[in-house]
Amino acid sequence: MGAVGVVGSPRRRGNTEYLVKYYLKQLAKELATELIPLADRKIVACRGCRKCQSTGECIIQDDFQGIYPLIARSKILVLGTPVYYSSMSPLLSSFLSRLGMVSSNRGRELTGKIGVGLVIGRRAGHNMVLAQLLQFYFYHGFVIPGGHYWTIGFGGGVGEIKKDREIFEVLNAHAAFTLKIFKKLGGDL
Ligand SMILES: Cc1cc2nc3c(=O)[nH]c(=O)nc-3n(C[C@H](O)[C@H](O)[C@H](O)COP(=O)(O)O)c2cc1C
Repeated sequence: MGAVGVVGSPRRRGNTEYLVKYYLKQLAKELATELIPLADRKIVACRGCRKCQSTGECIIQDDFQGIYPLIARSKILVLGTPVYYSSMSPLLSSFLSRLGMVSSNRGRELTGKIGVGLVIGRRAGHNMVLAQLLQFYFYHGFVIPGGHYWTIGFGGGVGEIKKDREIFEVLNAHAAFTLKIFKKLGGDL
């Protein structure tokens, strides 16, 4: 798998899903892509049990188990989240805690992948949430394509994101840059 897009909204077919799909469509010009809407999956919070430190596995048996190998095999991870009170969604936060802990305890399996963060909110808090996603990437050794303005969109009700024309221009340029970096690195991350 080339690129995996994780949709962190609990609302199916909402604004986050629309943007992540749009970004993956740009990457699909060069790579195989897969969309993972977490709303369809059961993902509970990390228990902090630290069992993964000795086994490299998460002891919680839910849909995280099926998603982890897809991300481990991918070269590009696109994370999308709505703004929830100036934070990422609790659903994505639960997922990232477990993704981070398990990958760290399996020899830092995320290191060297390319990470893209997309944030959607009705009005405020977007950049704080983007910073949360970028810090996750930074901690885990991702290559983070920058520039081309902020990868944040504005929209509240379902489909409202389509009215934010600027974000689509930003994502076109950003995805083209991501593909360029991917090709420069020879896909060997
Ligand atoms: C619990 C909750 C908290 C929210 N907090 C914010 C916020 O702090 N700032 C903001 O701009 N929008 C906030 N929103 C609005 C969502 O970010 C917005 O509706 C977004 O488009 C939802 O994405 P979705 O359609 O993918 O679910 C909040 C929505 C919910 C349900």
